Amino acid sequence: MKRLSIFVSGNGTNLQRIAEYFLEYWDITIVNVVCNNPKAYAIERAKKLDIPVRMITKQDFNSEAFIKELQDLDIDLIVLAGFLWKLPENLVKAFPKKIVNIHPALLPKYGGKGMWGHHVHEAVKAAGETETGMTIHWVTPVCDAGEIIAQYKVALSPEDTVDDIAEKEHQLEMEYFPKEVEIIIERMKE
Ligand code: GRF
Repeated sequence: MKRLSIFVSGNGTNLQRIAEYFLEYWDITIVNVVCNNPKAYAIERAKKLDIPVRMITKQDFNSEAFIKELQDLDIDLIVLAGFLWKLPENLVKAFPKKIVNIHPALLPKYGGKGMWGHHVHEAVKAAGETETGMTIHWVTPVCDAGEIIAQYKVALSPEDTVDDIAEKEHQLEMEYFPKEVEIIIERMKE
């Protein structure tokens, strides 16, 4: 049995998509959802999916106790699905090649500090890019700099608004993020 913890801060569409994708899997379970934003709609989604929610404060998040909590839960893979806090080095070190993140652009472009959500799509639009995409990467202490696991692209037209770009990219996430998580888990079993 592979045990996942999904970290969220916002709407939670990736959380929902991943949870629904693994519903029929007997050997993959989402142990909990870790959330740092009491207003996140992802909390409602987790409740509807019957997944325990662990609300986290900044102090908690940087504590050794939180790392021990995840280790005691035998978490095999931490999935950052729209989680907006940078992970502390001790947490990353405690889960080497066991933490993945999804970023709404084709890293290394449009990554790093301040590059999240609409800020990314606005930058892609402003640069007149002819394509955008999503990136799944291993998490390191340096924001958005970890080894890339997978990328998916979509073509853009000059008429595309920032919202169009965001929607096109979001469709990729809904399609491919669960599948890539599954591939990562299968590799862990080898
Ligand atoms: C996604 O666009 C993801 O790429 C980014 O944060 C967003 C989260 O969306 N890191 P949701 O909360 O899963 O709907």
